[in-house]
Formats: sequence, structure tokens, C-alpha cells
Amino acid sequence: MTNDLQQQIRRLAAERRAIILAHNYQPDEIQALADFTGDSLELSRKAAQVEAEIIVFCGVYFMAETAALLNPTRTILLPDTAAGCPMADMINAEQLRQLKQQHPGAVVVCYVNSTAEVKAESDICCTSANAVPVVRSLPPQQPVIFVPDQHLGHFVQERTGRPMIIWPGYCPTHMRIQEKDIAAARHTHPGALVLAHPECSQPVRAAADQVLSTGQMCRYAAASDAAEFIIATEAGILYRLRRENPGKRFHRASARALCPNMKKITLEKIRWSLQHRAPVVAIADAGVQARARRAMDRMLAIAAETPPARPPANSP
Ligand code: 13P
Ligand code: SF4
Repeated sequence: MTNDLQQQIRRLAAERRAIILAHNYQPDEIQALADFTGDSLELSRKAAQVEAEIIVFCGVYFMAETAALLNPTRTILLPDTAAGCPMADMINAEQLRQLKQQHPGAVVVCYVNSTAEVKAESDICCTSANAVPVVRSLPPQQPVIFVPDQHLGHFVQERTGRPMIIWPGYCPTHMRIQEKDIAAARHTHPGALVLAHPECSQPVRAAADQVLSTGQMCRYAAASDAAEFIIATEAGILYRLRRENPGKRFHRASARALCPNMKKITLEKIRWSLQHRAPVVAIADAGVQARARRAMDRMLAIAAETPPARPPANSP
């Protein structure tokens, strides 16, 4: 049944000249059929280069909107527009304008998990993979406003030593991972390396061996000498880690770290989307499009990513 549906989707994608992009948290059967799977930075870079007429974006709303910002001449389909990101909705453009008025002269760094309107009020975007080099690229004497994720903001502050004005947003999925989960997982799997996402709380990050974006986790695990890992982020990443590293073992830090929005995308909805060329995600306001695009382009001009705290044991 699933195979049949996957084949129908692949046929439809070829007929419609569509490419299927999937985030690392997507359900296994969607990652298995996607043309490209990645983290937010990798997907942004990919979306900017796509030549296919249609991009079917398997992820959450802000990711499809980012693809529309970066490649406005393509049709961006999000198979379920109710797949939102609660963190992205924790600040709106008016709230950010008020914050800027309170801190005149500050530079605004905006996590890509945000609306196009908030990006348009920002100077530069970042993802979980490049937030540290993005902040390091800013003039050292200039105050930094960081929105909307407090945990990524504090992680950047710890790494750069730069004081920042941090909005108190958070990811409800990553908040379900607790320090005691890491301790329990280490007890069950002694010797395993703990890789945590920067959206995790400070005690969880402090209990980890490395703090990495989902794409960085894939590269780190592949390059490392270690054979066993505890993964403190959304569970969907386990599919890719296991597929790319068949000789290694991966354990979830918490069975509760599931993003309900990421799981709203299904094979049936992808088929419907391709059949009907809908629902389309686009930026209606040309001013928002131009200003948000500028903040994204500034980010993409910074090629560096946040380095791991320590390189994998066998790397050059
Ligand atoms: P990554 O860019 O690391 O994949 O993170 C995106 C995200 O939404 C994390 O919750
Ligand atoms: Fe948003 Fe968290 Fe889901 Fe990522 S895991 S999309 S930050 S709710």
C-alpha cells in the first residue's frame, strides 16, 4: 500500500516537474521518497537553487515560506498548511518593532523559525547550524536582539561571550527532553555520545557531548569513531541517522520528543497536493518579501557553520 502510494507520488512529481524536499523530522516514509532531506540551512540553500517548477515542501509552514522567499518564481506546495511551528508564532512583527524601539541601535538576529513579517523586521537570519558565526559576523560594539528562541539565543551567548537581548520563545517539543532523560539514557547506554539540539534547555545542553543542528548531527555521527549515540532532538532524525550509519546504534533521549506539526504531513496529503497543485504558500506583500529576503540573503552569504565543541575523534 505505502509502496504503491510512494510510486504514485514519484510518478506525479515527474509529470508535474516537481521536486520533493523534506526536513529531517519528517515521517520515515516521506524521508524515504524525498529528493532531498536536510536541516533548515541545507533546505534553504537547496530551495534557493531549485530549477523544478514546483517544490513540494514536507516540513512546517515557516520552512515553505522561506522557500517562497528564496525562490519566488517557483510554486511552493505545503501539503498541510496547518503544519505550523508554535515557536515561530511566539513573536509577531509588532512585538519586534516595540523591542527595537526599546533598544535603538541594536542589530536584530532572527532564527529562521519565524514568520516572513518578523524576518522582514530583522537585519539577518540564522539557523541552528550557523547562529554562532552569524552573530560573530556582527560589529562587536553593537547590541544584539535575538528572536524568537531563548535556548538557541543562550547557546550563542555562551559560545560567543556576547551579551544579547533574548526573546523568551521556545520549542514545546524540545522542552519535553529533560536533564534526567539524558542521565537515564547514559545509564542504559554507557559509553554512548550524547548529541543535543541547541533548542534544548541549558541543563540538557550542558549534559550533552555536542550541541548540533540536525544536519550537523548526521555529519558528526558519520565522521565519529563512536559506534553509539543518544540523540536529544525530535525523533524523526533517527531514520536518517540509522540509514546513513548502518553499523552504528542510535537511541532517543526521550520518547516524548515528537513534533506533532512535522507529523501532519502524510503520503496521502502529498499525493493530493501534487494532483491539485495546492495548497500554495507565497508571500503576498512585496515589501515583506524584499526585506525578509534581504535578511535571508545576508545569512546565506555567511558560508560558515557553528563548529562542534570538539571535532569527531577520527576527523583530520
Ligand atoms: P534544524 O535546522 O537543526 O533541522 O532545526 C529545525 C527545527 O525546527 C528544530 O526544531
Ligand atoms: Fe517548531 Fe519545535 Fe517543531 Fe521544530 S520541533 S518545527 S521548533 S515545534
